[in-house]
Amino acid sequence: MDKFKIIGGTPLTGEVVVSPAKNAAVAIIPACVLADGPCIVDKIPDITDINVELEILRRLGATVEMLDDDTVRIDCTKINMVQCDTELVRKLRASYYFMGAMLGKYGKVSTAYPGGCPLGNRQKGIAGINYHIQGFESLGAKLTAHNYTTGEITIEASELKGNEIILEFPSVGATINIMMAAVKAEGTTVIRNAAREPHVTAVANFLIQMGAKIKNAGTDEITITGVASLRGANCEIIPDQIEAGTYMVMAAATGGDVIVKNIVKEHMDAVTNTLSIMGVGVEEYPGAIRVYKKGSVKSTNITTSPYPGFPTDMQAIMSALLCVSDGVSHVVETVMGERFQYAKELEKMGANIRVDGKEATITGVRELSGARVVTSDLRAGAALVIAGLCANGETYISEIEHIDRGYENLIDKIRALGGNIERIKV
Ligand code: EPU
Repeated sequence: MDKFKIIGGTPLTGEVVVSPAKNAAVAIIPACVLADGPCIVDKIPDITDINVELEILRRLGATVEMLDDDTVRIDCTKINMVQCDTELVRKLRASYYFMGAMLGKYGKVSTAYPGGCPLGNRQKGIAGINYHIQGFESLGAKLTAHNYTTGEITIEASELKGNEIILEFPSVGATINIMMAAVKAEGTTVIRNAAREPHVTAVANFLIQMGAKIKNAGTDEITITGVASLRGANCEIIPDQIEAGTYMVMAAATGGDVIVKNIVKEHMDAVTNTLSIMGVGVEEYPGAIRVYKKGSVKSTNITTSPYPGFPTDMQAIMSALLCVSDGVSHVVETVMGERFQYAKELEKMGANIRVDGKEATITGVRELSGARVVTSDLRAGAALVIAGLCANGETYISEIEHIDRGYENLIDKIRALGGNIERIKV
């Protein structure tokens, strides 16, 4: 297994261009199943989660053709089965989107519990996707086969009918999945307490291009009126707000000066405000944000919450910066469980973090030191990379396949900013 070797201490400087959003792309690719014609998806990120989803589509019988490095033509009209490849499904969380898309199109899907980062209820089998299943059931679908041991499930509906669905929590995955199952259902579906993340809107816009009738995506109440058929459509994936935030924090943590390009300003507000409060220099330009060292970085408190609050996906990343800030910070995680697994790894590097349930207390230290650390999940991995870049000495990060799942060209982008990082074979 490969590792990252990082020699810390160089302030990052220059420009970095943000890649297309993983969490939008991983929903838009399965959404192509719903179209009765070919779709062209432009600006797909080159990350393992996407490559696995494209392979799931191929095995279903779809034609998947790369038109250039980041444009894919997906023709799902030849799909000839409703059985997803369960080995592939288990490789990523977002494979749950094949449930909504296949159910919406064919009224049946056989698949398995999704995989992905070991966070929250995700390891709890059906409990990790209960909002999705409850939503499908409200539309008239049933779980007709369920093997608790292998996690294999079949969901089917003789007919999908619109309904009112009130989500217990504004789950991103459940909101998008229910939207995909509902676009061809008879009648009107209303999703209340819906997630408002930018990728929910991105998927809705793609479905609208196909001919779906969806209103108010991006608010907490989405209305979907079913249509008989959907046509092929084109779309371009939005910039990745979490990748953008990662480079912003990387610039701040290394005391550098970086212009992060290809940004949607309002997607970044929670991160931008937090950095400003901490005394980090932040300047906004059309489509770009400059982050630079202004003086010492101050501690602050953060509480994660669904969009437009502080994103859970930025929690570990921002905490890496808090570890080298002046003072004591409190970090409260309200969205995902198991999101402090990075703390013990950062402690190996000299960080002072006390975790108590959903809260971490971080006392800033002057300097981190290089160490051998292990990545537990994607964003924990990004936090360790940031820590390694600002630490004194060499850091070796293992289990980096978590990071490969979500960051396009990470090594090249950091090296172009002057960071000393390489992938080594062990
Ligand atoms: N939850 C349930 N049951 C469900 C669905 C969710 O209990 O049926 C719980 C989860 O365990 C979690 C909370 O509800 O505690 C919120 O989960 P949500 O459904 O919003 O998250 P998700 O759809 O599983 C997506 C992103 C995550 C991101 C969260 C929150 C994708 C593929 N994943 O996950 O991204 O953290 O929304 O914004 O879109 C990442 O990119 O590193 C990542 C983990």
